[in-house]
Amino acid sequence: MANEQLVESFIKLIESSLSEAFRSDLSQLHTEGDIRTYLADAFLDRERLKEKVDRLSELIHIGYMLSAEVRLKELLLLILDKSKRLMNADRSTIYLVDVDRLHLKSMIATQLEIKEIIIPIDSGIAGACAMTGELINIPEPYSDPRFDKNIDKLTGYVTRNMLTAPLRDKLRNVIGVMQVLNKSGGPFDEEDERLIRLLGSFASVSLENAMLYEAQETMLEKFFESLAAAIDAKDPYTAGHSARVTDISVGIAKEMGIEGEELRQLRFAGLLHDIGKIGVRDEVLRKPGRLTEHERMHIQEHAKQTYEILRRIPFTKSLEGIPHIAAHHHEKMSGKGYPDGLKWHEVPLGSRIISVADVFDAVTSKRPYRDPMPFEKAVDLIENGAGDEFDPEVVKAFKTYAYRELKGQMNAG
Ligand SMILES: [Fe+2]
Repeated sequence: MANEQLVESFIKLIESSLSEAFRSDLSQLHTEGDIRTYLADAFLDRERLKEKVDRLSELIHIGYMLSAEVRLKELLLLILDKSKRLMNADRSTIYLVDVDRLHLKSMIATQLEIKEIIIPIDSGIAGACAMTGELINIPEPYSDPRFDKNIDKLTGYVTRNMLTAPLRDKLRNVIGVMQVLNKSGGPFDEEDERLIRLLGSFASVSLENAMLYEAQETMLEKFFESLAAAIDAKDPYTAGHSARVTDISVGIAKEMGIEGEELRQLRFAGLLHDIGKIGVRDEVLRKPGRLTEHERMHIQEHAKQTYEILRRIPFTKSLEGIPHIAAHHHEKMSGKGYPDGLKWHEVPLGSRIISVADVFDAVTSKRPYRDPMPFEKAVDLIENGAGDEFDPEVVKAFKTYAYRELKGQMNAG
């Protein structure tokens, strides 16, 4: 009797805290056991709901992170890491479709490392997903004929379950495949399928942007290389000068610990440092003999011209220093250089580096009126200029780089 009263009061209590829609459920509750089951289910539902909300918030957070990354490799690593966590998977793989070679190029993230493998586009589950554009959820891969056991053999991994989703661009073409393996606690379910589809759409938009960004970067680089070649072609005796100065500048900069965007900016400034020579008259530029004072001043104008040409290019923030760096490659630490007579740290670091590379390449190149200076003598010349003409820190880095990388090349050449 006491139990029946207890059940009744429980039901009343629950009834008062439930909305109308759920009250009809209560008519099914008659015993203490019914109530226990009902409460347990309700609790489980709450936990599941919480889990769903947590995963969706995580997904939104991932979406923000992906949209902020434009570098392709970094983006791939981010997607690999985040998809593995979000899907509770042991391993995640991104396959990118290489349309030209009909290959899938993959990046695999494990807890320890990133591996890269290339497979034919029609092979395995990833291939099937890339070909059909369908999501594929396989609870037992070894009993599925589409599964290519060789990939496991190749990577030394045992696949227990897998979920594979296509990555599509704006035109709905499959640009890649995202695959997660070995979910902790069993095969992937419908909830996981919904989640990976959403993650896949975020990843696709970001990947497409990163690929476009990379293509633009490559185009910019090739364009600057062509410009450099065009400048050098004005004077047959300086063929390849801009490219060599760029290589040496990058070598010195790396030696000094410069990297990333700063290194990229220096590289472009190196390629473009003499672009102002476009405005120098050919007969003056190619004159084999001694220059008159007027001609010398005309040639020196190229530094200012370099600035005037480059300042018109709307460089992005990380490259905005290019016009200044390129234009000041003839400045000297003493302040006796041109075009502005800047001293020491008034001269941008990039210009101080290019200036050393420029002089070294000029003296070691053959001219119609003189032979190239031997390697050791040229390094001595640079070293003697430290302090007055060149930045001693740059000279130090140059010497280390030159003896390691340039000596062998020049002696061989
Ligand atoms: Fe120059």
